[in-house]
Amino acid sequence: MRKPLIAGNWKMHNNLAETIELLNGLKRELLDFDGVDILACPTYTVLSDAKDILLDSNIKLGAQDLYWEEKGAFTGEISAAMIKDVGCEFVIIGHSERRKYFQETNDSVNKKLNAALTQELTPIVCVGETLAEREEDKTTEVIKDQLAQGLKDVTAENILKLVIAYEPVWAIGTGKTATPQQAQQIHKFIRDWLKDTYDFDTAEQVRILYGGSVKPSNIKDLMKEPDVDGGLVGGASLEVVSFSEIVKGSI
Ligand code: PGA
Repeated sequence: MRKPLIAGNWKMHNNLAETIELLNGLKRELLDFDGVDILACPTYTVLSDAKDILLDSNIKLGAQDLYWEEKGAFTGEISAAMIKDVGCEFVIIGHSERRKYFQETNDSVNKKLNAALTQELTPIVCVGETLAEREEDKTTEVIKDQLAQGLKDVTAENILKLVIAYEPVWAIGTGKTATPQQAQQIHKFIRDWLKDTYDFDTAEQVRILYGGSVKPSNIKDLMKEPDVDGGLVGGASLEVVSFSEIVKGSI
């Protein structure tokens, strides 16, 4: 069966001192807690320290983005190999904030996830519709395009190595969570797309996370849905108590 994954997306928060405090707090709270994969995705500047703190803990480390080229004159960019080198196992790809503020497209998502796979990093590929798209009844069309183009030419073998996150843009940072039924409807749509594109067994193994105002108070109901395999948590991942409660509430 699919093991739940709770991932914290710290975004552009937490300096080194705050990182040390948060990770040490999480280690204490979640010590010996298994049955769910736990992931923290801090900013690049603290990844190396985070790796040292998390050594021998049950909390894994991820980055929030990467650039697809291996190396070269790309000022300001960070490669998959560099992320791997600093101790990450996961990387978030195509977050809606990257798409909105940094002009990411389904094509760049595709290049980035391939670069991640080359370095044996687990990409968490984000998809999701805006409020306008939902209101125009285009949700499934948008998600289908994001999947078809973002995951273009990904083999069945590789699809098993990635995680998909459904994050309705209107629910991110707004306090407005999708209802468990709304989440399940799209998660099932994604799994059905995987079944059609690959096969039943493959689709059944891919983890699909929900993201968008996940909190201790809604994680249990979200996780009751058959196709919701975990959460990608922004705001509530920045505090020991709320993130630990989400992790504990997920099983
Ligand atoms: P949020 O963010 O939990 O603050 O809504 C989720 C995300 O952007 O991944």
